Amino acid sequence: MHVVGLNINFIFVFLIVLTISSSLSEEIDPFTNESDAVTEIAKHIEDIEKLSKAAAKANDGVQIPIQDTNIIYEGIIQVIQTIIESFKDKIYANEFLKSRGIERVIVPNLMMPHSELKTSILVLVKILFEVTPTATKAAVPIALVDRLLDIFENDENLALKAHSVDILALWLPKNPLLQARVMKLKGLEPFYNQITKLNGSIVKTLLELFNVILKEHIRARDGKIQKGKNDKSRLYQRIGLIERMSTPPVCIGLVHAIDIIWNYNIKDDNNSILNLLLELTNNLRQFCLKVLRGKTKAIEIYDLLFKFVTDPGNEDLFLKSDINVTATRVVLGGFLKDLKIRDEL
Ligand SMILES: *[C@@H]1O[C@H](CO)[C@@H](O)[C@H](O)[C@H]1NC(C)=O
Ligand SMILES: *[C@@H]1O[C@H](CO)[C@@H](O)[C@H](O)[C@H]1NC(C)=O
Ligand SMILES: *[C@@H]1O[C@H](CO)[C@@H](O)[C@H](O)[C@H]1NC(C)=O
Ligand SMILES: *[C@@H]1O[C@H](CO)[C@@H](O)[C@H](O)[C@H]1NC(C)=O
Repeated sequence: MHVVGLNINFIFVFLIVLTISSSLSEEIDPFTNESDAVTEIAKHIEDIEKLSKAAAKANDGVQIPIQDTNIIYEGIIQVIQTIIESFKDKIYANEFLKSRGIERVIVPNLMMPHSELKTSILVLVKILFEVTPTATKAAVPIALVDRLLDIFENDENLALKAHSVDILALWLPKNPLLQARVMKLKGLEPFYNQITKLNGSIVKTLLELFNVILKEHIRARDGKIQKGKNDKSRLYQRIGLIERMSTPPVCIGLVHAIDIIWNYNIKDDNNSILNLLLELTNNLRQFCLKVLRGKTKAIEIYDLLFKFVTDPGNEDLFLKSDINVTATRVVLGGFLKDLKIRDEL
């Protein structure tokens, strides 16, 4: 056969794409044993590495037979989808981690200049966190968060921002070391800078995450986080979220976020937004009342919220869910009243 140089490369990439396409149609047997997982995951990772190398060469201007790198990226996406499919069986997810899939597949491909590829990598990360949270948290290098924040801040693609936020929501809670890195690296600024570019569901996830983390810090401040051998309270203190909580950027940023999710289909989401606003208001009032008192925007929004929960037309809506309407009225009404009190001095 006359296969030299380029042609070997060509056949090589072509074969990979072929094997990928054929393995796609294979059914994944949910009872496959561990040695199947080992072989299959090893093969998928190797396929991706070969394709990534080919793409990198093409990007460096090296002549390869498939000059259209999009075809290569699409090949990688197909293998990733096969891997994701296989994670229905947890053995595969664990095998992926054991084979250093994070370093070999996730980290390099998050750098590729291809939105769809980055999207599928982020979905892969998200599913890993969901399928095998403890092992994933142990395996993910902390520096990956820098890349997630970079995507969240600088990528115009809303789906990419949404996936980054979803991963942060799975990774940040109860992880003060990671929280410290995020705060040191960027602080909370990128979050309020992005707020107006996001849609209701992403802002909701962000606010839920913020609320969860704030609760953690309040518990740590109140000495309710386990001390002793595993003393994390110092770490929480060092992050300084509680200190930042009373500052105008944080409190005003929160009011903007509440404004955005208020306009999101609140009636269709079984009052989970109302529950969130109730909790969040309870948690932030001790910090933000001073900053927000007398502020038109805050009064306007809490006026709307209070009217909504006291509107008899909405009774049916509250009955259908497990929201405590009395508590909600008390909290929102109380905060509204406090906001309206003018500083006498
Ligand atoms: C797993 O599969 C391998 C090869 O397919 C086979 O040799 C082995 O006996 C199987 N192990 C179990 C526990 O089924
Ligand atoms: C917000 O954007 C994400 C990503 O594009 C999308 O998945 C989600 O459905 C959107 N939500 C709304 C309420 O538009
Ligand atoms: C609301 O609850 C219903 C029934 O429990 C469920 O089918 C629906 O998916 C829920 N909607 C949302 C947005 O969670
Ligand atoms: C609802 O909240 C009110 C006021 O906080 C409280 O007194 C009451 O026990 C709560 N009801 C339920 C069912 O939790």
